Amino acid sequence: MHLVKKLLIGAAALFVVIQLVPVDRTNPPVTARLETPPAVDAVLRRSCYDCHSNETTWPWYSYIAPVKFLVAQDVRRGRELINFSTWNDDPEPIRVGNAELVWEEVEDGEMPMGVYTVMHPDAKLSDADKAVLREWSEGYEESLESAGGDEESAMSGGSDDDEDAEHGGADDDAAEDDDAR
Ligand code: HEC
Repeated sequence: MHLVKKLLIGAAALFVVIQLVPVDRTNPPVTARLETPPAVDAVLRRSCYDCHSNETTWPWYSYIAPVKFLVAQDVRRGRELINFSTWNDDPEPIRVGNAELVWEEVEDGEMPMGVYTVMHPDAKLSDADKAVLREWSEGYEESLESAGGDEESAMSGGSDDDEDAEHGGADDDAAEDDDAR
């Protein structure tokens, strides 16, 4: 009994001490947000934004150790890999790849994370939600092409300096033609 009491006091003391260890719960500015149709936006915000954006709603348990360490780590890692708040900072090929990954992860049932949906049941994706994400993901690359042909030719020219020097003139001509039409 004596030992059990000591252990309990030790555990309680440890619990108090780890509360003092800080974690980063900042929401950095939203600088280059992904623009999507409202239906897509709604699903992403409900199911993904807490970990893949700078608009995280930090839940009460993100203030209590040791859980707060896990939450902060998921958000840090999530933002590192895919961040809808800085989406357009990435070059076009990366964005296209990320849009593909979004549907892959959802299709495989990997995202949103299972531990998350336990605490946020409304973040679970219905079949209709999944269809919305799938359609967006599959059409993303095309939506870029129709939105900005000029930007695209500027991108592909800029991504390879050598080629740019050789074919720069041709690219410019093509861009001008687009403008004229
Ligand atoms: C609780 C936090 C959390 C939520 C909510 C969440 N994710 Fe994630 N996501 C992560 C973490 C953490 C990883 C990294 C997983 C790993 O390393 O295995 C990740 C990885 C990913 C990746 C893989 C990126 C890569 O480069 O491999 C994609 C894509 C992704 N998430 C999309 C989504 C989508 C779409 C949603 C919403 C439907 C979502 N996530 C919801 C935390 C989250």
